[in-house]
Amino acid sequence: MRIISTLRSVLRFKKFERDPVLRRLQSVANVSDLRTISKRRLPGGVFDYIDGAAEDELTLQRNSAAFQDVEFKPRVFRDVSSISLKSTLFGKELDFPLVMAPTGFGRIANSQGELAVARAADRAGIPYTLSTLGTRSIEEIAAVSQGRKWFQVYVWRDRELVREMLERAIAADFEAIQITVDTAITGRRERDVKHGFTLPPKIGLGTIVDGALHPGWTWDFITAEPISFANVNGQIVGDGSDPITLADYINSQFDPSLSWNDLEWFRSIWKGPIIIKGIQTVEDAKIAADMGIEGIALSNHGGRQLDGAPAPFELLESVVQSVGGDIEILCDGGVRRGSDIAKALALGANACMIGRAYLYGLGAGGERGVDFVLDHLREGLKRTMMLCGVASLSELRPELLRMRSK
Ligand code: FNR
Ligand code: LAC
Repeated sequence: MRIISTLRSVLRFKKFERDPVLRRLQSVANVSDLRTISKRRLPGGVFDYIDGAAEDELTLQRNSAAFQDVEFKPRVFRDVSSISLKSTLFGKELDFPLVMAPTGFGRIANSQGELAVARAADRAGIPYTLSTLGTRSIEEIAAVSQGRKWFQVYVWRDRELVREMLERAIAADFEAIQITVDTAITGRRERDVKHGFTLPPKIGLGTIVDGALHPGWTWDFITAEPISFANVNGQIVGDGSDPITLADYINSQFDPSLSWNDLEWFRSIWKGPIIIKGIQTVEDAKIAADMGIEGIALSNHGGRQLDGAPAPFELLESVVQSVGGDIEILCDGGVRRGSDIAKALALGANACMIGRAYLYGLGAGGERGVDFVLDHLREGLKRTMMLCGVASLSELRPELLRMRSK
């Protein structure tokens, strides 16, 4: 009897969670766990489109590894009882120094797609960037988010199409545009080549077998309205309703003649902040600053374009030395933890961007998965600051870091 009462006092079974998404998220501790769940839930081709990168994926690996090459010089005995994560970006308040990077085809991860990501960003008080190749339209995003909304521009050969999208973004109260400049041609994503991956995913025998093995995803996908490039709908250039490989699409529609001279045309239409996304050298950062551009995103497209491109975090110090203070600087690529954000801010970035981190959340748990990622990064940043003896973002300085001795 004694044994039973002792056992009863120490045995505590966790209450069974009825909601399957919450049940799934209960065992998640970090972004890597969300990636593992996404890998299990999504068909192979879809997961690899999100997770993969160009050629040998060296740049993909370097983007994250660069953060790990640096360690903190934590200070102690400092009052960290009250921590502020607030700053400003393009003159407006930011609740924490993060921006949602644009990603195409959000609805292949979850049928809510870009709507889920935009709502989560709004709740977190950070900007959301809608991709030109998004599967929810400019107007649909505006209908679900009162928050800061940015539009990412891919420059079509047909400039009237681009003008029309910009005018729609102005009408829908979007604040800024990011012009992506690293995609004159698609990078060779060899996982997509192997899968013969198309957007939207083709329903063939292989997909049916794959679908049966991923019933949660398949049910969500086939019961939602068909996927399309919601922003180019009804255009002769292809609205995304017919399966096509991304490489064929981009290489036939995007304008490889794009150059610095085109910025004047953008200025004549877009009066808000312009951010050049895909800056990969100090020289180009300087040109952008000299031209009076408001922001740059140091980015190699998450390693999906030029394999062998430098990791944005490694570029940061020299770019900040050259143009810091003249232009706002976003560090985009490889961010998986709040401590990565702390490191980028210490080197002078105004904010970081994330792509895959929120897509893994979306694939693993829909909108709640995205909320999870944002909470995780916010708490991680705050904890890192407390453990480094830093109470506000402006105290994140280069002196807080050193290269790890090998
Ligand atoms: C992207 N990225 C991207 N960039 C862009 O300018 N327009 C786009 O449509 C897309 N689409 C896209 C799809 C997917 C599945 C991924 C993973 C990425 C690049 C994105 O904005 C960002 O630069 C990277 O995702 C940053 O690296 P991390 O955070 O994924 O490591
Ligand atoms: C990509 C495109 C959509 O990276 O930018 O897949």
